[in-house]
Amino acid sequence: MADRIMLNQTSYHGTDAILEIANEVKAQGFQKALVCSDPDLIEFGVTSKLTDVLEENGLPYEIYSDIKANPTIENVQNGVRAFRASGADYIVAIGGGSSMDTAKAIGIISANPEFEDVRSLEGVAPTKHPSVPIIAVPTTAGTAAEVTINYVITDLEKRRKFVCVDPHDMPIVAIVDPQMMASMPKGLTASTGMDALTHAIEGYTTKAAWEMTDMFHLKAIEIIARSLRGAVANTPEGRKDMALGQYIAGMGFSNVGLGIAHSMAHTLGAVYDTPHGVACAMMLPLVMEYNAACTGEKYREIARAMGVKGVDEMSQDEYRRAAVDAVKQLSADVGIPSKLEALREEDLPFLAESAFADACCPGNPKDASVEDLKALFRKLM
Ligand SMILES: NC(=O)c1ccc[n+]([C@@H]2O[C@H](COP(=O)([O-])OP(=O)(O)OC[C@H]3O[C@@H](n4cnc5c(N)ncnc54)[C@H](O)[C@@H]3O)[C@@H](O)[C@H]2O)c1
Ligand SMILES: [Fe+2]
Repeated sequence: MADRIMLNQTSYHGTDAILEIANEVKAQGFQKALVCSDPDLIEFGVTSKLTDVLEENGLPYEIYSDIKANPTIENVQNGVRAFRASGADYIVAIGGGSSMDTAKAIGIISANPEFEDVRSLEGVAPTKHPSVPIIAVPTTAGTAAEVTINYVITDLEKRRKFVCVDPHDMPIVAIVDPQMMASMPKGLTASTGMDALTHAIEGYTTKAAWEMTDMFHLKAIEIIARSLRGAVANTPEGRKDMALGQYIAGMGFSNVGLGIAHSMAHTLGAVYDTPHGVACAMMLPLVMEYNAACTGEKYREIARAMGVKGVDEMSQDEYRRAAVDAVKQLSADVGIPSKLEALREEDLPFLAESAFADACCPGNPKDASVEDLKALFRKLM
C-alpha cells in the first residue's frame, strides 16, 4: 500500500496569525460560524481573542461551549443540535484537543447524520461526506488536533475513550498563534507539551513510520526538547517554538499512528479523568524502556534530537538509556509526577483490557499483551 500524507489546505503560524481568520472566512465565502470552545476558555478571555476579530470584521457567529476536558458523547450530540439550530455553515474550533475533537465530531455528524450515535464513528468509519468546514485554532501546544485526522471521545457509560480516524475531519485551515497559548498555566503547558513529545516519539517509532514522517518527528523532538522548559517559564520564544513543534509532530503522527503510551493514556483519561498530557507524560519513559529492543537505531536519533552529546560514540545500550533518561529529565524539570495516586490494583484488569483494545495499540513497535500492559500500569503505582 502507498504511504499517504494528509495536512491542512492552509495553515498560519506565528504571532498575530489569529488576524488571518477574517481573510480566510471572507475568501471562503462562509456566512456564519459555530464557534466551539470550552467554558474555561471563555472565562479566561481566550475565546474572545478570536471572536473580537470576527466582530471587528462583521462576521456573524454563535458560541457552543458545552465541552468538558476528555469530551463526551453527550458533548458531541448537544453540539450537533446546536449546529443545526444555529444556521451556521462552518465551524471554528478554538481550544485544546477537547474543543477541537468535539468540533470534528460535530462537523462529521452534521454532514453524515447516520453516525449520530457517535459510537459508530470509532476506528476508521466509512463516512461519505467531508465534515462541515472547520477552521481550527489551538490554545494548547499540544495535541495538534488542528492538523490530525483523529479525534477522541469519551464513552462515560462504558468507561472508555475511543479514537476515530477519518480523513474527512481534517480542518481546512489551522491558525497556530502562540499568543493563544500564552495564558496556559505552568502545569498545563508542561503536560500538553509532553503530550506533543509523546506524539513525536511514538510517531517516530511506530510500525508504519517512514522517511517523510521520520523527518517531521525528529524535527518535532528537537524543537520540543529545546523549547518546552522555556514555554513553561512563559518566554515568547518558548511559546513560539512549542506552537510549531507540536504542529510538526501532528504532521507526522496523524499519518502513521502512535503506540501504547497513547492506548494507556486514553484508558487513564476515561477511568480517572486524568488529563491527557499528564497521562502521556507518565507513560512515555516506561513505554520507551519497554519498546527499546524493537527500535533498531532509532533511540540514537531520539537522544541526539533531545540534545544528548556524543551519541555516535555510544553503544546501543548506552544511547537507548540516554534517550530514556533525557525524556525523564525533561519530564521532571517541567514538574510531571511519575506516580498516579488514583490507580487501584483492582482496576488493572479492566485498564489493561481497555488499553489492549485501543486503536493505537497495534502500531506499537513491540506487540504488547494484556499482561504486559498490566505490568506497565502497575509501574505507576
Ligand atoms: N485529535 C488528536 O489527534 C488528539 C491528539 C492527542 C490528544 N487528543 C485529545 O485531546 C484532549 C486533550 O486536549 P488538551 O490536552 O489540549 O487539553 P483540553 O482541551 O482538554 O483542555 C484542558 C484544560 O485546559 C484549558 N485551556 C486550554 N487552553 C488554555 C489556555 N490557552 N489558557 C488557559 N487554559 C487553557 C481548557 O479550558 C481546559 O480546562 C484529550 O481528550 C485527548 O484525548 C486528541
Ligand atoms: Fe496525545
